Amino acid sequence: MNPKPGNTRENVPLDAGTIFRHSRHMAILKIARMGHPVLHQVAAKVTEPTSADTASVVRNMLETLEDVGGLGLAAPQVHISKRIVVFFLPAARTGEGPNDSSEKLTVMINPEIEPLGAEKELDWEACLSVPDLMGSVPRYTKIKYRWTNLDGTQSDRVAGGFHARAVQHECDHLDGILYPMRMEDFKLFGYSKETHMNYDLMRSGSAGPKDATDEEAAA
Ligand code: NI
Repeated sequence: MNPKPGNTRENVPLDAGTIFRHSRHMAILKIARMGHPVLHQVAAKVTEPTSADTASVVRNMLETLEDVGGLGLAAPQVHISKRIVVFFLPAARTGEGPNDSSEKLTVMINPEIEPLGAEKELDWEACLSVPDLMGSVPRYTKIKYRWTNLDGTQSDRVAGGFHARAVQHECDHLDGILYPMRMEDFKLFGYSKETHMNYDLMRSGSAGPKDATDEEAAA
């Protein structure tokens, strides 16, 4: 996902800093944009999570993520059709709801999501593969997700709010789904610069606490 304006690279501290500093032989990869076939196919499961090959893909994804200043990146977005996601959630971006935690840089191999309950809510999303635009997307409010780490171990978390939303957005990329394909109301889809100045539109596209959303929309 893209950070919303106001969360640019300059004012979002990267928990991933240490990893970036100690990574070598990395490459910044080109971001695939909506319409490219790699974004519209189901990515292959990673059969060797601990391989040097997988580590190399992840290193390049991390450098690319840092370069573009995003919060998350899925391998298909850099033309690699494998089930790999990297993301982090700065505290400044998380809400106050249950399980809406900030998270340090997380590398997920073959992630799987299980919705906890049927409840969904609307909020705004942006995507590096859909530049300059933003849309309001219904997502499950609470999920459990699990994945394989680079060392082959398994992890899982329960997530709510923006945390849950970000994970659903990234994992959708592995199934060839971009956020506009989840949208139900295309009035809530527009150029980011215009949309951010449209107070009523911003409000109607967010199910979050109105006070907090108002602040953010006005910023
Ligand atoms: Ni995206």
